Amino acid sequence: MPARSWFATQIYRAPLQASGLARLNADLTEECHRIRDYDDAGRRWSAKNYPGGYTSYASMNTLHRFSSTFGALEQKLLRHARVYARLLDLDLQGRDLALTDCWVNLMPPSAAHTLHLHPLSCISGTYYVATPRGCPGLKFEDPRLDRFMAAPPKRADARPAHRTYVTYPAVAGHVVLFESWLRHEVPANRVTAERISISFNFNWA
Ligand code: NI
Repeated sequence: MPARSWFATQIYRAPLQASGLARLNADLTEECHRIRDYDDAGRRWSAKNYPGGYTSYASMNTLHRFSSTFGALEQKLLRHARVYARLLDLDLQGRDLALTDCWVNLMPPSAAHTLHLHPLSCISGTYYVATPRGCPGLKFEDPRLDRFMAAPPKRADARPAHRTYVTYPAVAGHVVLFESWLRHEVPANRVTAERISISFNFNWA
């Protein structure tokens, strides 16, 4: 082949742990609802900035420091983030990854999260707690999209690595990791049940 691929973008997905996910997710669901009920500031912020849903992104975003459930989750996420950093060939220069923010997202029907990236961090991701059948996944876009200018669109049967968008389905118990500069969105939830996820950022410190 005369052409080779370069500048790869890696997206990581794996089950958080080998067993015990149902119990963990039941505990996390309960705790996420408690947080929402307690977090007056977060509910007010969400009413303006996260229509139809609740996120603790702007109010309670260091949950791993205050909750033993989230603290245990932090340790598990850290193991995955270290594997991912190795897969990316990152040289952390003797430092380690550290979870800086961790917040809850409750998406009832109609809630959506438009395109964004995660500034001031290197690895970001989401852990899925409750994913009713048919709920939206996590949609990533090609990070070079703003440079394509006169490029023709991609064929409908383009090879996966050549496509402009990829959507990772939301699967309860799975963790998805990506580099924080990669733009992504969660399309509107069109099913009647609530989708619950926990998002987070890692930096190297
Ligand atoms: Ni995000």
